[in-house]
Amino acid sequence: MPEADEKKEKNFYPEIQQKNRAFFLKGSNNFDWGMKNRLSHIFNPDTGKTVMLAIDHGYFQGPTTGLERIDITILPLLKYSDTLMLTRGILRSIIPPTYPNGIVLRASGGPSILKELSNEQIAMDIEDAIRLNAAAVAVQVFIGGEYETQTVCNMTKLVDMAQRYGIGVLGVTAVGKEMVRDAKYMRLACRICAELGATYVKTYYVEPDFETVTASCPVPIVIAGGKKIPEFDALKMAYNAIQKGACGVDMGKNIFQAENPVAMIQAVRMVVHKNFTPEQAYEYYCEQIKKRDKS
Ligand code: 5RP
Repeated sequence: MPEADEKKEKNFYPEIQQKNRAFFLKGSNNFDWGMKNRLSHIFNPDTGKTVMLAIDHGYFQGPTTGLERIDITILPLLKYSDTLMLTRGILRSIIPPTYPNGIVLRASGGPSILKELSNEQIAMDIEDAIRLNAAAVAVQVFIGGEYETQTVCNMTKLVDMAQRYGIGVLGVTAVGKEMVRDAKYMRLACRICAELGATYVKTYYVEPDFETVTASCPVPIVIAGGKKIPEFDALKMAYNAIQKGACGVDMGKNIFQAENPVAMIQAVRMVVHKNFTPEQAYEYYCEQIKKRDKS
């Protein structure tokens, strides 16, 4: 039977060549469609940046301040996050499955704060990451730490498993207490993660020379917030990191321990996605606090 469609006039636009578009994210052009699609649920394709909300702290330190009741304190922040970084336990028990953005699952663990933290192992099966529709899995890498090799191998095993299914791997550079947090160390740690297959890398913002950390890492870098600091300082850190080549933040305590977490995550978004200066973003933050206090 001839196709009914044959009666219609067709237009093949022979004069217009199909475009080959480069993928927007640094170092990610050679991935398959599935991986690129998942990465587009972590990084905003319009800005190339991400505001990841990190709430996975409980995997080694229990009910962290601000995360005692994730259902009460964190759910109101979800709509301002590009991605959530968390454990599968919290994902299944508390996060609504209607959350539309990327999920980055904590995939390493083992020791609590009472033990040697670098003694981690892979703590989830890739099948469960697929079942939970993860965009990426996250693993600590302790360069220079007591269990350095074990944590590097945790990452490479996860890369092998995750790559099979087009799932990203976030290499998290974990800095032991005895390490110096400077650009030289961060260059070393980030580059090792990228060389061994991390899809993107999380590290700490350091001064001076953070731009050498981002420049020498062939995949995107996001910065951790680190210890709680005053809100303006956290915005300034995010701003400086973005100006020096970071593709976003993976921020926890500096958002959920802020005086007004909803206003803080919005202010961080302004810095990351809209190039607001820290002063402009902080002004917005203070206005929100004033409004809240009046109502
Ligand atoms: C733990 C992590 C956390 O996700 C990360 O440290 C949280 O972010 P913040 O430092 O901003 O609270 O990777 O090792």
